[in-house]
Amino acid sequence: MNIATISTTPFTDQKPGTSGLRKAVTVFQKPHYLENFVQSIFDSLEGSQGKTLVLGGDGRYYNRQAIQTILKMAAANGFGRILVGRGGIMSTPAASCVIRKYQAFGGIILSASHNPGGPEGDFGIKYNTSNGGPAPEKVTEAIYACSKEIEQYKILEAEDIDLDKLGEFKLGSMAVEVLDSVQPYTQLMESLFDFDRIQELLTSRQFRMCMDTMHAVTGPYAHSILEHRLGAPAGTVVNGTPLEDFGGGHPDPNLVYAHDLVDILFGEDAPAFGAASDGDGDRNMILGRHFFVTPSDSLAVLTANAHLVPGYSQGLAGVARSMPTSGAVDRVAAQAGIDCYETPTGWKFFGNLLDAGKATLCGEESFGTGSNHVREKDGLWAVLFWLNILAVRGESVEQIVRSHWQTYGRNFYSRHDYEEVDAQKAGELMERLRQMTPEMKGKQLGNYEVDYSDDFSYTDPVDGSVSNKQGIRIVFTDGSRIVFRLSGTGTKGATLRVYLESYEPDASKHDQDTQKALAPLIEIAEQVAQIKDSTGREQPTVIT
Ligand code: G1P
Ligand code: ZN
Repeated sequence: MNIATISTTPFTDQKPGTSGLRKAVTVFQKPHYLENFVQSIFDSLEGSQGKTLVLGGDGRYYNRQAIQTILKMAAANGFGRILVGRGGIMSTPAASCVIRKYQAFGGIILSASHNPGGPEGDFGIKYNTSNGGPAPEKVTEAIYACSKEIEQYKILEAEDIDLDKLGEFKLGSMAVEVLDSVQPYTQLMESLFDFDRIQELLTSRQFRMCMDTMHAVTGPYAHSILEHRLGAPAGTVVNGTPLEDFGGGHPDPNLVYAHDLVDILFGEDAPAFGAASDGDGDRNMILGRHFFVTPSDSLAVLTANAHLVPGYSQGLAGVARSMPTSGAVDRVAAQAGIDCYETPTGWKFFGNLLDAGKATLCGEESFGTGSNHVREKDGLWAVLFWLNILAVRGESVEQIVRSHWQTYGRNFYSRHDYEEVDAQKAGELMERLRQMTPEMKGKQLGNYEVDYSDDFSYTDPVDGSVSNKQGIRIVFTDGSRIVFRLSGTGTKGATLRVYLESYEPDASKHDQDTQKALAPLIEIAEQVAQIKDSTGREQPTVIT
């Protein structure tokens, strides 16, 4: 078989964002666009000759074509072996699990996470390193640098592989193994959770749950684990068949986009437990009967109850959360006497802490929770963790969260997103805020006094690398906060994210509506940032 060397010229827009390179499908379909980026990944790697690569995606439109191209390019670039998911399917956490289990050199995951799919939707590609985690910034910078200088790429001239047939194939001199990643993933879950207790719960008459996998990648994993292995009745998992366009939906598990599930859990005769996961399976939303658990609270509850779960009963080394995530988990960590790390947004920043054994559980406000079992956030893992806690405690989701607030106080928390706003105006808004930060200290805003304000900068405690400009914080003397950030995953215009948080120790005030409790902070955010004027929007697009 022939290796073709194709001449190409660089694209200027291949800088990976919060989570890999994410663009409209139509951009990826431009001649050489995908190939350039894949070759840039390969060019940036050292010592990959003869090594094993893991490959899979969330099944969205263009997944299969991209996989065939990447297989042939990997063969032409000297990889020894590729482990590819059956049908091209591998959830992000499962890919992380497979990379670790097979000690692969790295992996390529094709996903635009929760962004809509289909010919008019988005596509994405991210590289994970041998620890199973997203490439750290120095690696993504190197890929970007290669993409700016690329002159040619290599591809094997060969027939497509049958991705639906399990087994070993040859592509040139490279071995290709098509595997079903549900199996290794299930084994890993079984090693962490008390499957017997969860099974008892799921098969008892008093308990009913509903998991909405939103026609995305988690469907096969959830069917297999919850229904087949743990005995939940058929129909427990809904929208369980991955579709190329996610059934036309927006596979983002939050109150806005997972409204079908929300209707069920807030409706009459609601089940006791509800959960949803996103396009590539790393996000989760947790609901109780008529009750929403914020992702920040979820992380805190998992931390406080980890001793009830076999895989974590030996104790936690520490916890980590992204900066905009609420401080609920900090209070649990403080009481438990373990370290709590505050990192920039994006899972890649947790990698070093997990590898160094400094953190066991991690989470982000954006519906992401995970642990040291893999190096990605993991939606189904979070669901099983909750089920394990529910099975042991025998209380409802609401009871568990309310008693948590009683012990630790409640962090009222909300994120307001202004999507697809003018990128230049959004940039100017952030710059204005940045200029203001040095003079904010001591200022009185409404009933709040500014304790400090800055543009968050992070020094990785393991390798000393520094990440600047990670979000403007205005922190008040009572611990309440407003954070402003621009999204690094959007594909159209800019998305402004405003994160609001206030702390309430008094249990008699825990019943308030979140948006009401945060109203004074919402007003201050508008006053300081002039959001309406800058974005031309009266309201956020999404409130979570
Ligand atoms: C968003 C979330 C962030 C998450 C990322 C990938 O990034 O805010 O927490 O890690 O998606 O799922 P953003 O668009 O804010 O850059
Ligand atoms: Zn995702």
